[in-house]
Amino acid sequence: MKNILVTGGAGFIGSNFVRSLLAYEPELQIVTLDLLTYAGKLENLSDLPSPERHTFIQGDICDRTLVDRILSDHAIDTIVHFAAESHVDRSILGPMPFIQTNIVGTFTLLEAAKTAWAGKSSKFRFHHVSTDEVFGSLQPGDPAFNERTPYDPHSPYSASKAASDHLVRAYATTYGLPVTISNCSNNYGPYQFPEKLIPLMILNGITGKPLPVYGQGAQIRDWLHVVDHCEAIVRILRAGKTGETYCIGGDNQPTNLEIVRTICEILDRKVPRADGQPHESQITYVTDRPGHDFRYDIDISKISRELGWHPSRALQTGLEETVDWYLTHPAWVDSVLQKQDFSVWMDANYQERN
Ligand code: NAD
Ligand code: TYD
Repeated sequence: MKNILVTGGAGFIGSNFVRSLLAYEPELQIVTLDLLTYAGKLENLSDLPSPERHTFIQGDICDRTLVDRILSDHAIDTIVHFAAESHVDRSILGPMPFIQTNIVGTFTLLEAAKTAWAGKSSKFRFHHVSTDEVFGSLQPGDPAFNERTPYDPHSPYSASKAASDHLVRAYATTYGLPVTISNCSNNYGPYQFPEKLIPLMILNGITGKPLPVYGQGAQIRDWLHVVDHCEAIVRILRAGKTGETYCIGGDNQPTNLEIVRTICEILDRKVPRADGQPHESQITYVTDRPGHDFRYDIDISKISRELGWHPSRALQTGLEETVDWYLTHPAWVDSVLQKQDFSVWMDANYQERN
């Protein structure tokens, strides 16, 4: 691994990954390809260690000519593919960009990778970053998802990610492209766009806005700190077997309401409300998400056993650090909140639920 292309590297997980990789791999050159949609921000890449080893290119993964040129000009031997439309609620309100980027974009990258690789280097790798949501929804008592769980996606987002996973496997089976896939649970941590549960609750909590809990907040997610996810991907790149899939998760099972209450309790300590009321008083129960998956739980025994990876941050510690990060980065928060698309979308989503 010498020259790596990171797609979606200006987004939440991608930017954390670029930062981790520059720190862990002192010889590596990194190219980030990112369209800078509403979710991508150059500011996410502003504090890189060794920035001279990083090149940013704004562009679309669906642009075959551009992707071909990058693979050739930078002698890319490794692709780590994060670029995607990533938010379930947006996929319900408008699925088209999910089909285009997540399916057509992944197909375009695979075609370009196949041409660049052309069977000539055993060192080539295409790593596809996916989600546990492709496996569907668990009921109480069901066993956790693992690498052999059948696919059963429910939202346009998870269906588009499932399609992209299948394409990646097809390119491995049919053409021998050296691929790996990871299916990870919900991430949280610095630089997450505040449409997702945890940063939305932190920022609405601080600014005195309603904390919209879908349904009764009984749904369960498995939360993983983004830096732990990035370390897992680095291990897969270093020691994972081509053709293999690895499930990644945080080994915890809080309900959404428990997560929101924990964030409220942290905010009560760090930024008490002027009126002395607890932040929990801002919780508002809103109409549930259609097709809302009830529970995700992921079995990490394969990646633990084969690659020695375990999540390193306890959820409570990770949440405290994440609240601190949002409190100490007001310029980043302001620039995200000022994006016009964000306020328009938040209004549409909120109205949909009221
Ligand atoms: P994100 O929405 O924060 O970032 C996505 C990035 O992709 C943005 O920078 C955006 O500008 C870029 N992008 C979108 N369309 C593009 C296109 N056509 N061409 C080039 N760039 C484009 O997403 P994230 O939360 O960082 O997720 C990254 C990846 O990880 C996704 O593939 C997602 O499915 C997967 N994943 C996310 C989670 C999670 O909890 N966030 C969990 C498991 C897997
Ligand atoms: P989200 O962060 O959107 O991730 P995903 O849908 O990919 O799991 O949502 C996490 C959970 O939180 C999910 O069960 C939906 C719920 N949720 C709310 O209750 N309120 C909100 O405002 C949001 C954004 C999510």
